[in-house]
Amino acid sequence: MQKNFWYGKRVLVTGGEGFLASHLVKQLIDVGACVTTTVRHARPLNTLNLIQKGPKKSASPDVEHSDLLDFFALRRICDRHQIDTIFHLAASAIVSDAANSPMSTIENNVVGTLNILEVARINHIPRVVIASTDKSYGDHANDNLEKLPYRENYALRGLDVYSASKVCADVLSQTYSYQFKLPVVVLRPCNMYGPADLNFSRLIPRTIMCLLSGRAPHINAGNADVLREYMYIEDVVQGYLLAAEKVSDIYGENNQNMPKHGKETYGWAAFNLGSYTEKDLQNISKCDKIRSVTTVIDMLRKKIKNIEPVVKAKAANFIEIPDQYLDGGKLGKLGFKPKVNFEQGIDKTISWYKEHFDDLSGLAERYIAN
Ligand SMILES: NC(=O)c1ccc[n+]([C@@H]2O[C@H](COP(=O)([O-])OP(=O)(O)OC[C@H]3O[C@@H](n4cnc5c(N)ncnc54)[C@H](O)[C@@H]3O)[C@@H](O)[C@H]2O)c1
Repeated sequence: MQKNFWYGKRVLVTGGEGFLASHLVKQLIDVGACVTTTVRHARPLNTLNLIQKGPKKSASPDVEHSDLLDFFALRRICDRHQIDTIFHLAASAIVSDAANSPMSTIENNVVGTLNILEVARINHIPRVVIASTDKSYGDHANDNLEKLPYRENYALRGLDVYSASKVCADVLSQTYSYQFKLPVVVLRPCNMYGPADLNFSRLIPRTIMCLLSGRAPHINAGNADVLREYMYIEDVVQGYLLAAEKVSDIYGENNQNMPKHGKETYGWAAFNLGSYTEKDLQNISKCDKIRSVTTVIDMLRKKIKNIEPVVKAKAANFIEIPDQYLDGGKLGKLGFKPKVNFEQGIDKTISWYKEHFDDLSGLAERYIAN
């Protein structure tokens, strides 16, 4: 992080109640930014409050209760707070929920992103970071030309509703970059984990809550061996901050670094957020953050309680993307270096869920019931 970069910056973080947003907001406030968040729904538990428990409390952001689908409200918010940086994180972000509500997911993730891009274009906002995902790349399993690890210039082939919505938002963001020279970067992170993810359908929070309550963890049928890459939430936050700090270097004066045509334009504004370079990935067994579902569950069983998992049938509409991991070299060249290894991250995560178990158990119940 550049010293004093964030001091006094006027930052909008969308979806302020979310997992990543809460951690990012806390960090931005700690380094002196003036933060505004948009929040759509009141939640039974406030994530930011949960991560701020303890003696060292940060200030609070300005909270605007607003839906991103309301373009004029969004514009008023950016004007009112004189926003100079946007982190667009709000999304319908749960893959299984998206499969059950395609219209609202696509509307929310695509039109919500379009509204952000359009406000940023009209207001000449100098730094915009859009959350995409490794899911956007989708299935490259048998692709001999575009093999794993995923690289930024690969085709985006997300074919389930969530991934497709993120592909559209990702491509729209690149369009605004290329056509309107909007200073936007698109981040494509791997799976994130850490304290205060209240989305209990996700593997790590669900398994921890199952084991802490003495119940069997779940494996979706056929899913036990697929590889996923994981990153601890504090590292993810550092990646987002760095990407925003580097926007003007990435574009260069008068956008001189932007390619004019051809393959150079493919994914030019996009950056993977992963821990490994192509060289590291030559020996994948040494990459401790790339793991199968079974090895994640086994590690949690060893650390919490050794209960045998149960295999659950997958919903008929659930598509499991084959193995996924990223070449993180492009953001690495800008100076990104994640610090937390998987074991350290998991230990911190388990401690947090243990400490907050009583607050969380009611909310988690429907996801952990056997
Ligand atoms: N968690 C992961 O592993 C992961 C990995 C890759 C990418 N991402 C992406 O990162 C971003 C943050 O993910 P997260 O895990 O923090 O998700 P999250 O579900 O915890 O947070 C998303 C927040 O956005 C809010 N929101 C949704 N639609 C809104 C709207 N129209 N107006 C205002 N608020 C709205 C939700 O209420 C929620 O609080 C998402 O864009 C997600 O797609 C997440």
